[in-house]
Amino acid sequence: MAQREHWGTRIGLILAMAGNAVGLGNFLRFPTQAAQNGGGVFMIPYMISLLLIAIPLMWVEWGIGRYGGVRGHGTTPAIFGLLWRHPLSRYVGVLGLFVPFVVACYYVYIESWTLGYALFALFGKLPQVKATAGTSPEEYLRPFRDFLTHYTGMGGGALYRPSLAAYLFFLLTMVLNYLILVRGISGGIERFAKVAMPILFGLAILLMMRVMTLETPYGSAVAGLNFLWEPKWHELGNPRVWLAAAGQVFFTLSLGFGAIITYASYLRRNDDITLSALTASSLNEFAEVVLGGSIAIPAAAAFFGVAAAQVIAASGAFNLAFVSLPAIFANLPFGHLLGFAWFILLFFAGITSSVAITQPVIAFLEDEFGLSRPRAVTATMLALFMAAHLPIFLPKALDEMDFWAGTFLVVVFALGEVLIFFWGFNPSAAWREINRGGLIKLPRVFFFIMRYVTPFFLALIMGWWFFQELPSYLRQTAFNVWITRGVLILIFLALCLLVYLSGRRNR
Ligand code: PHE
Ligand code: NA
Repeated sequence: MAQREHWGTRIGLILAMAGNAVGLGNFLRFPTQAAQNGGGVFMIPYMISLLLIAIPLMWVEWGIGRYGGVRGHGTTPAIFGLLWRHPLSRYVGVLGLFVPFVVACYYVYIESWTLGYALFALFGKLPQVKATAGTSPEEYLRPFRDFLTHYTGMGGGALYRPSLAAYLFFLLTMVLNYLILVRGISGGIERFAKVAMPILFGLAILLMMRVMTLETPYGSAVAGLNFLWEPKWHELGNPRVWLAAAGQVFFTLSLGFGAIITYASYLRRNDDITLSALTASSLNEFAEVVLGGSIAIPAAAAFFGVAAAQVIAASGAFNLAFVSLPAIFANLPFGHLLGFAWFILLFFAGITSSVAITQPVIAFLEDEFGLSRPRAVTATMLALFMAAHLPIFLPKALDEMDFWAGTFLVVVFALGEVLIFFWGFNPSAAWREINRGGLIKLPRVFFFIMRYVTPFFLALIMGWWFFQELPSYLRQTAFNVWITRGVLILIFLALCLLVYLSGRRNR
């Protein structure tokens, strides 16, 4: 077996893990989720989920990953098989390939919009309309919305009709991902993160400072912050707010996707887990609640007023990022550069995450079938390229994929991994595994949390999804939805077949 790759330096590893976590979720999904779910009250379940589910799960994923990597395996079908000797465990592990692959299909596409928009902004190709007194936000935003609709082709019709530019930027984004991935863990992913992450944080801080000084007759950034952070207590009893908060915490920290596990499989046997995982998570949370919360929504509130900003946030993350912000920047001095900064920031956030969701399948082909890295990367990217046509062209496919892979199955998978590590495997060995080489010692209470509290809450969330949300999703019977489900099932079965074959091959 070839020598397994490793991260080069601790700082490189932390930046790569932060790059994995910090993504479009921080700057687009977080502000819209918070605004749609009670503003400030969202942060209470958010913080509770962070402490009781996410941080423990983060240590669990790093521990599982390093355990597998030391034994030559970077993905969950093989690692779960080692941890829990039960025929089912390898097939629970299939989720650690399925979830990242399916999410990558649409994530890369949206990421490619940010690259396209960055260049459009820089070269002045976005609409240049200035707001005039008396036009409603609705009217004023129309040319910007039309531009997005034309770009993505997501208007009416049986199929989406993306513009040529959108398709070309998608191809370019695939190529850029390929170029990073083919250079490997330390030579590609780590080296890129060491450049991209500091730029990303720098740009976000600059934009935040610019937005904070925005004030118009309609509102101010501070009013936007108040709207986002002022608790609306009556919403606290609403289970949907809790689910949304837990879902956001999963998504933003890349938990339950298999991506953290695969990255952690490139640690060395005695590398620190406890402090490094906490540091990478803290960087993500800073990029989320401080930076992500202080750009898009406050800008919209300053420019359109709080009430209109709320309507915009309710209309979704895409409208906020690709419609409202360009419209705001069109009215500011150096608007081209601000727009470029905003979209290039999103692009860096996106690409450091998309390589992370692509790596599991690559690692699987390398570890379990002995493929060389170039071959594994090429095969994975070709499969991804083909599957991505579904969300690019088929209306409703993106939402359906996001619901199954990005929202529901991550919780199932997270429950599976914590149960396998802290019940199927050996609880005290799991605890020792996480702590070995640790630069900080975890308080013993986390053992109790990981063994009982985290699985309990995950089961609760899963049950809620199962009984409250799933039925209404399953009742959707549009033709496109069924096509999407069919493709998802085929992808799942194909991965199961590969796992079966790899099991025979390695026996
Ligand atoms: N955490 C990323 C974000 O916030 C999304 C992601 C999930 C990336 C899983 C990689 C793996 O956008
Ligand atoms: Na994130």
